[in-house]
Amino acid sequence: MNRVDFTHNTEAVNAIAAHYDSPPMAFVHSYGCQQNVNDGEKIKGVLVDAGYGLCDKFEDADLILFNTCAVREHAEERVFGNVGALKQLKAKNPNLIIGICGCMTQQEGVVERLRKSYPFVDLVFGVNGIDTLPQLLAEKMGAGKRLLKTPTERYDVVEQMPIQRDSTFRAWLPIMYGCDNFCSYCIVPYVRGRERSRKSEDILHEFRQLISAGYKEITLLGQNVNSYGKGLEESLDFADLLEKLCQEEGDFHIRFMTSHPKDATKKLIDTIAKYPQICNHLHLPVQSGSNRVLKEMNRHYTVEQYLDLIDYAKQKVDGITFSSDIIIGFPGETEEEFEQTLELIQKVEYMQLFTFIYSKRNGTRAAEMPDPITRKEKTDRMGRLLKAQEEIASRLAKGMVGKTCRVLVEGHSRQEGTLTGRLNNNLVVEFKADPALIGSYADVIIEDARVTMLKGSLIK
Ligand code: SAH
Ligand code: SF4
Ligand code: F3S
Repeated sequence: MNRVDFTHNTEAVNAIAAHYDSPPMAFVHSYGCQQNVNDGEKIKGVLVDAGYGLCDKFEDADLILFNTCAVREHAEERVFGNVGALKQLKAKNPNLIIGICGCMTQQEGVVERLRKSYPFVDLVFGVNGIDTLPQLLAEKMGAGKRLLKTPTERYDVVEQMPIQRDSTFRAWLPIMYGCDNFCSYCIVPYVRGRERSRKSEDILHEFRQLISAGYKEITLLGQNVNSYGKGLEESLDFADLLEKLCQEEGDFHIRFMTSHPKDATKKLIDTIAKYPQICNHLHLPVQSGSNRVLKEMNRHYTVEQYLDLIDYAKQKVDGITFSSDIIIGFPGETEEEFEQTLELIQKVEYMQLFTFIYSKRNGTRAAEMPDPITRKEKTDRMGRLLKAQEEIASRLAKGMVGKTCRVLVEGHSRQEGTLTGRLNNNLVVEFKADPALIGSYADVIIEDARVTMLKGSLIK
């Protein structure tokens, strides 16, 4: 790992300014996970630092950037569809620059497809090129032709990046980049490169900036936060990092994702139990309830080990809730193995599940495995899983009725005059209140529960 500070490239910024008659506008859209959304906030930060204004409609933009996700085929096809729709815009405004970046562009085949079939795409760069964006734009403008970078891996961790955060009270704080786990179905280690942890002092610095700027909820991000610290000169693990952050003064709370079960420790759970600032919610993706499938997925834990950790957390952390990701129809998953997943969710009692039908990713190990299960069978399993989960979640949510909870008020709900607030355990409650409360804490009494949406009243 090589740590570098972001530098403002005056030459490139001047070249960009000279290219336009009036201050240019940029439209940036991020797909995919929170890490990517946080990258999108940095892209916007770098563009503002380079003289761009930001706009919400791509019709108003001089530069359109799609920051893409490659995790499932559907995500990629959506991007190709949305990029295709920009062709008309480019025909009307030949000065428009259309750029694609993020995880999709780390795959050679994707860059080739953009080169051949999307001639109106001007700029392509990978996940590690954000700090160099002004240079790339200046280079593209100077050359007057397309600039499509082929994927590279870069080991630098860039600090002090300018950032335009989407929220004024909830912030993403990456603690590590990349992934070394190579779960057999997953493209992320190929597109995000090797695992790199940020130094704790850099994390602490950003954390303090966020607290003093009034941020209330800080979500620590990493593909596997539990392997935080590997490769650093200092000796600390994820639980130690949490401990450090909890020493900071201020009215805030901490969430984190994602925890890989193979590296989640009892020490981590003890730390959650110790500090009220750490939310009592654990996103611990299990992926499958079958030991054979878990082995084929290269997950390195068994159902028994997973349940042991869940039981420990239930004992130690008052009112803890769990969520998980589940893959349906991994190659060769039998009906019995799927039923084991159903059994597992009954045992854990998740508050929330993110369920995905397996999507073949070229270059991964699972892409080579025979996959005889029909699509119909997979969607049928998905339906059964969702139904079972709905019953569990509504039972748990009903158990909240009558409780008084401190919530972070997040925004307007669909119903006129009503706001939403997030509980410590990650459930959301709707209640009537003054919108001036958005971004602050409020006490709410829970009065009703509909599946996972709670209804309540503000306590004056
Ligand atoms: N690092 C995180 C997950 C990142 S990807 C972790 O290990 O938990 C988010 C989720 O997408 C995964 O947990 C998995 O459930 C799902 N996913 C990843 N690759 C997939 C694929 N090829 N098909 C279907 N779902 C996939
Ligand atoms: Fe993908 Fe596994 Fe890494 Fe998560 S831990 S990003 S599922 S390879
Ligand atoms: Fe997608 Fe890349 Fe995140 S593939 S899920 S945006 S790390």
